[in-house]
Amino acid sequence: MSDKIKAFNVVAESYDIWYKHPQGKQVFDAEKNAVNHMIPKQGIGVEIGAGTGVFAESLTTEERTILCLDPSVEMIKKAKERELPCILGVGDSIPLRKLIDFGYMITVLEFLNEPIKLFKEVRENSKENHVFSILFINTESNWGDLYRDIGAKGDPVFQHARFYTLEDVSMMLEEVGYRISDAKGTLNSDPMKQEVDVDLVEPSKQSGVIIVKAE
Ligand SMILES: C[S@@+](CC[C@H](N)C(=O)[O-])C[C@H]1O[C@@H](n2cnc3c(N)ncnc32)[C@H](O)[C@@H]1O
Repeated sequence: MSDKIKAFNVVAESYDIWYKHPQGKQVFDAEKNAVNHMIPKQGIGVEIGAGTGVFAESLTTEERTILCLDPSVEMIKKAKERELPCILGVGDSIPLRKLIDFGYMITVLEFLNEPIKLFKEVRENSKENHVFSILFINTESNWGDLYRDIGAKGDPVFQHARFYTLEDVSMMLEEVGYRISDAKGTLNSDPMKQEVDVDLVEPSKQSGVIIVKAE
């Protein structure tokens, strides 16, 4: 097992605590709304790197089923406790041939060794008209600076992260044959401020995270 996955196993128990703090709750709601905006209202989807399932749980509806896929056994155990359908595995090898209407990832791109390999796998395992949505930390924003700094100081998780621009993500998706049909930014305020600007707007250097919809 890689050091990266070991790090997620270690933090699994406390992972959701931040989402309950005043700032973390605003971030959670902003990211959830951004994903909800980009994925179909119906169908079977997979959250790649679903972690504890905290997002999948809140995005699941009667019409929308979400499978949680994650290589960290301790993280996926938490998703299982939420009674979500779960698969222990990596996004680079998805055992769901042509079953998927949509796929999405939330701050997972930063931890992938081979994003393009994973994008190809999503494409090959999804229905023809599927949607693939990626929410990532914007390397050009203050949030990007913050997480880079935390990583440089030895944070067990963010020391393994790599950060991207919208152009980087767009180029990687295009390499696999995807086209970005929508892109938005949120967390548009400074991460040091407790009050988070959660509007979903055109992406810019102010956007702490960016979400793209690829088709
Ligand atoms: C920062 S966490 C995000 C978890 C969840 N998406 C959230 O936002 O709460 C990153 C997750 O990506 C998972 N991960 C790392 N490498 C992966 C890979 N190759 N395929 C799928 N998931 C991976 C980790 O185990 C971890 O749960």
